Amino acid sequence: MPLYRKFLDGVPEYLARYYWWAYLWRWGIWFFDHQPVINAILFGQYTRLLNRTLALVETSPGARILQLTCVYGKLTPALLSSTGCEMHLCDIANGQLELARRKTAGRCRLARMNAECLGYRDDVFDQVVVFFLFHEMPAEARHRAYAEIARVLRPGGSLLVTEYAATPRHHFLYRFAPFRWLLGHLEPFLPGFWQEDLVAKMSAALRQRGKTLAGEPGIEFCFAGFYRVMRFDVAAR
Ligand SMILES: C[S@@+](CC[C@H](N)C(=O)[O-])C[C@H]1O[C@@H](n2cnc3c(N)ncnc32)[C@H](O)[C@@H]1O
Repeated sequence: MPLYRKFLDGVPEYLARYYWWAYLWRWGIWFFDHQPVINAILFGQYTRLLNRTLALVETSPGARILQLTCVYGKLTPALLSSTGCEMHLCDIANGQLELARRKTAGRCRLARMNAECLGYRDDVFDQVVVFFLFHEMPAEARHRAYAEIARVLRPGGSLLVTEYAATPRHHFLYRFAPFRWLLGHLEPFLPGFWQEDLVAKMSAALRQRGKTLAGEPGIEFCFAGFYRVMRFDVAAR
């Protein structure tokens, strides 16, 4: 039996197959949840990306925010301290939820859910925050997640996405073939995500729910265009 199958404990097959070592294996969870490690994975850009994300987070009193899936490092506690909002966090991996529970000390509502099929009501969140999730999903799973985000976001709400930017053809890392090869192996769905028109896909997902974007999304690039932080505002009805 392939090793990854031991981690198929109600999680999507792609997560166990390609990322068991990063998100499901307890020593992997221990190792990656160290600030220097995740900062190194993001080429020293962690703090910049975190701050740019936090600058766009919803702070209106009474707002309800969903962080769609757990992340290593301090994003979740930082979101909790920079907003007085009602925070929800869902993930499909028990080990990740356990880690989040330890970091949030009862201040965040945690739930085990698949991002492709959320158990929340329609139009229930003022903001959804997604930090480096999409590039780890196969295209079909990613598109189901877009549809679910469009469903649970209320008109007038917003989506924050911190992710790889579109194919960084001119970036020195991308131009270095061995690096591109390595990244393509560690992140098998990244090349597909690089080529995806995220704005078009999100607009289409919102349209399916009778919602539209309120203008062009705001976008800030980081690390010479390798990463981006985007805010999509949904038009109020
Ligand atoms: C947000 S992503 C990447 C985070 C990034 N590498 C970091 O830690 O900064 C990783 C998380 O997504 C979760 N995940 C992946 N696919 C999922 C899905 N379909 N539904 C719910 N959680 C999922 C994994 O369990 C993991 O906790």
